[in-house]
Amino acid sequence: MLPMIFISTNIPDVGIDMLLGKANFEVWRDVPPPKRKYFLQKVSNADGVIAIPGAATKMDKEAIDAGKKLRIISSYSVGYDHIDVEYATSKGIMVTNTPGVLTDATADIAFGLLLMAARRMSEGERLMRSGKWRYWGPRMLLGQQVSGSSLGIIGLGRIGTALAKRAKGFDMELYYTGNSRKEDLEMELGIRYLPFKELLATCDFISVHCPLSPETEGLIGEEELKMMKPSAILINTSRGKVVDQKALARALQEDWIAGAGLDVFETEPIAKDDPLLKLPNVAMTPHLGSASVQTREAMASMAVENLLAGLEGKRPPNLVNPSVWKG
Ligand code: DGY
Repeated sequence: MLPMIFISTNIPDVGIDMLLGKANFEVWRDVPPPKRKYFLQKVSNADGVIAIPGAATKMDKEAIDAGKKLRIISSYSVGYDHIDVEYATSKGIMVTNTPGVLTDATADIAFGLLLMAARRMSEGERLMRSGKWRYWGPRMLLGQQVSGSSLGIIGLGRIGTALAKRAKGFDMELYYTGNSRKEDLEMELGIRYLPFKELLATCDFISVHCPLSPETEGLIGEEELKMMKPSAILINTSRGKVVDQKALARALQEDWIAGAGLDVFETEPIAKDDPLLKLPNVAMTPHLGSASVQTREAMASMAVENLLAGLEGKRPPNLVNPSVWKG
């Protein structure tokens, strides 16, 4: 009998086609995502789930308990903070993700937001669209020079490294912080290690690239924002909760820092009355990090490859919890 799969989002056809003849499946094709109750009901009949971040589709204890037959949770994302990996592991359920294929797309968005915030491009666009652009003036919408300024990367993993490569092309001075030194990358990119607080106090731009975990939740809060230079710009394309969003809004209102470029938010979609939406010095995109045609297709292939491998008794290539693998 073919396994039953629930796909909680409308992944590109390339992934769906890979399932034909290999599994019975249902795809949630609508936007917004399914209601929680419906999702849990689908999980309860599934041998495998393709999961995405989001309140209704998170694979927490409740969803894992609902999945009585569940053997594998394949995340259509590199981040897997929406999955209770420890609990899945205790139940012998495999968890997989999609690393690597979204590195360049996400680094592009991070560098794009850096440029947008530094050069006040979204403010300029809003000015034009409002019909209020009346003159060219030598003091109009002056931003920060990107070339020659310093960039501090929190977490020199795949995406942080790809961002450093882009910044090198702009002659930026590169610094990073993290749990370990990356001496090979220091040599290759001319990037220098700084302790966390020193990096915050030193750099013109700070970009966050660590995964969300109990250790990194609220990593950038009031104290850290106050350590940054008043001219500094914070970029976040990792997860919203790594930054204390209320503290960030205050930092931007009260000029502790000059600006921010954000692709991720504590709650997604962002609340309509969130103060960030009213602040001119924030450039923002709605979680578009991996949103290129090529990347989303590669993620679909990878998520389905992981899923099918697990269901066919093979070790999935991107197994997040290898201790469940009995091989
Ligand atoms: C990821 O893959 O983690 C992206 O942020 C999409 O959630």
